[in-house]
Amino acid sequence: MTLTVPAYSNVSALTDREKARLVERTRRSGEYFERAHAVMPGGVPSSFQRNDPWPTYIERGTGAQVWDVDGNEYLDFHNGFGVMCVGHANPTIAAAVKAQMDEGTHFAAPTEGSIVVAEELKRRWGLPHWRFTNSGTESTMDAIHLARGFTGRDVIVKIEGTYHGHHDAVMVSVKPPPDQMGDREHPNAIPYGLGYAPGTPEATRVVPFNDAEAAELALAQGDVAGLIVEPAMMNINIVRPVDGYLERLRELCTEHGVPLIFDEVKTGAAIAPGGATELFGVTPDVVCLAKAICGGLPGGAVGMNAELAELVETNAVRQQGTFNGNPLVMAAAQATLLEVLTPDAYAQLHGLNDRLMEGCERIIGEYSLPAHTVGMGSKGCVVFSSEPVREYRDYVSKIHHELSDLAWLYHMNHGIFMTPGQDEEWTLSVAHTDEHLAHYLEAFELFARDVTR
Ligand SMILES: Cc1ncc(COP(=O)(O)O)c(C=O)c1O
Repeated sequence: MTLTVPAYSNVSALTDREKARLVERTRRSGEYFERAHAVMPGGVPSSFQRNDPWPTYIERGTGAQVWDVDGNEYLDFHNGFGVMCVGHANPTIAAAVKAQMDEGTHFAAPTEGSIVVAEELKRRWGLPHWRFTNSGTESTMDAIHLARGFTGRDVIVKIEGTYHGHHDAVMVSVKPPPDQMGDREHPNAIPYGLGYAPGTPEATRVVPFNDAEAAELALAQGDVAGLIVEPAMMNINIVRPVDGYLERLRELCTEHGVPLIFDEVKTGAAIAPGGATELFGVTPDVVCLAKAICGGLPGGAVGMNAELAELVETNAVRQQGTFNGNPLVMAAAQATLLEVLTPDAYAQLHGLNDRLMEGCERIIGEYSLPAHTVGMGSKGCVVFSSEPVREYRDYVSKIHHELSDLAWLYHMNHGIFMTPGQDEEWTLSVAHTDEHLAHYLEAFELFARDVTR
């Protein structure tokens, strides 16, 4: 594949220099890594936290700031992979969780908190029935069970290049290597790693994002149980749905009697009160939530229409878990949704995000970088491609991955904590201010100046 962006001659030298700086600044993290590596593969609790040469081990956070174990202070634009829209150690969430601590932390029996949160999710997303989970993975797993249980069919249609968590049905063509993808009209279903049940890739049909005709052909085969889609892709930077795409998926799924599943684990409460469902005005049959809805505690939820809820009601599909609706998690979710992420908070987040994107666009223009910004709600990113990215294959072929990596190093070395790797976006919190944005833009401009010099 050929890159359609200019190659800057100094990228590799700058990358070496900035990597050396990062190592120098984070020696203590290096020591933690040695220790961690002896007891955790890769030195991390989750493979997403791996990094080269080691992860940055964090000591604490408050508001929009975090500190690593070397004492480096950062403004946090990573925000726990988009979870911490409420800001770190938010006093409202802390008070709610501490109060619940004193009342008992776990009963495996329902509490009023779960009713309040389910009512609020119903109000925000418009779906009538809700259950709780402990992660995004569980939410999408439950959604797949619902779809298969409802239709009695096996095949799940998923979008090439999306991540929906790490259960078998969706660990297919998450980041398929270009030489194995097959042609665009008939993408191969490539397992993402080892260890899945036989028949897993065969039961997953892969289609490109933003292509309703491809989805139509996949559904026309008559064996489809459900179609799962992130309404805006958020694990290959951010890719917006083109006009009419989600509406057409809605029509097609209805025509074929196939549940439409929105994975809103990332979009969720982070981009609008009712997530992408509200923002794009298309209501699916199932919504999967996690991340930002629980204000930093591990929890998730799955919303469903009445027909699917009937399957749960009758135990035809088993939706269950010891910690589902855990009182601490519900206390955090209730405070997040009712007290912190208020309409005013969303207005503030949207304003900040627009101004950050504008600032990045100004720098991109001034230095003629082959890049553009994409964003919505509290989330945004600089995409290092001068052409629009509409699907995974564009991401593979049109993005200047070395520039993305170098920008990350500049941010980290200039006090901006960012998601590792090239796939992610920033997430803002209610604790971010225009001053924080200015700091982000300073680091980005330094990168732009050096790389184009
Ligand atoms: C779109 C999407 N769905 C599902 C998941 C899985 O969520 P979790 O990591 O909470 O299991 C993720 C995680 O990043 C995600 O980005």
